[in-house]
Amino acid sequence: MRREPHVLFDNGTHQCLLFDDLVRGEGVQTNQFLITDHGQYLLLDPGGDLTYTPLSLELAKRIPLQELTYIFASHQDPDIISSLGKWLLHTKAKVLCSKLWARFLPHLTANYLAMSHGISTFDRIIALPDRGGSIPLGRCQLKAVPAHFLHSVGNFQLYDPVSRILFSGDMGASLVDDATPVRDFASHIPHMDAFHRRYMASNKVCRLWAGMVRGMKVDMIVPQHGRPFVGKEMIDAFLDWVERLECGIDLLGPDDYQLPK
Ligand SMILES: [Fe+2]
Ligand SMILES: [Fe+2]
Repeated sequence: MRREPHVLFDNGTHQCLLFDDLVRGEGVQTNQFLITDHGQYLLLDPGGDLTYTPLSLELAKRIPLQELTYIFASHQDPDIISSLGKWLLHTKAKVLCSKLWARFLPHLTANYLAMSHGISTFDRIIALPDRGGSIPLGRCQLKAVPAHFLHSVGNFQLYDPVSRILFSGDMGASLVDDATPVRDFASHIPHMDAFHRRYMASNKVCRLWAGMVRGMKVDMIVPQHGRPFVGKEMIDAFLDWVERLECGIDLLGPDDYQLPK
């Protein structure tokens, strides 16, 4: 029996849902998100084959699936967008992703989409410039926020000014099978530490990102894996931690580049 999605925000015309319970088997736990506003629908980081069927069934209970307006891919990873072909075939959605990935994503789709269905993957992609931009959805404007090198070279997060949620992708991710808000930051660190040290590119980009987020009105940071940070105290604790974190190339030296014996 699957759990119902978490309702992160709902004011009657604008809704943010978190699906945290769709992965079964060997894949890492992932969160998928649906944002709706006045009859338009954005699906955020839908995942791969593992999540396509359960997610599409859950969405179909709530929205006319065919009419999905956008799919937002924060980056190019398998747990983010490898189900692309199925979404292109079964919905009308346009796919938003970094311009760095626009010519690579068509490798995820099969030729029969073009041959039998006349679907050009590239024509369905909206390539975002490095500075990001606004995404009109219903009567609101979502923001594609730069988060390059956190961890992917072309990486965006999604900021929703209505709910004040920052959907942070892999930033803030924790490898736990739980999507309830973090209560005790110190005891949560071990679930994030190794992942951030290895995947995030460097302390410099963590600091730049944290500085940007401190200037935004954010009530919730919600990552693509694990538990969200809700409220000022938890958000500040995460920003304080991540801007001091040494990670990625900060930690690499000659020992890491040796011909294996
Ligand atoms: Fe990733
Ligand atoms: Fe991820």
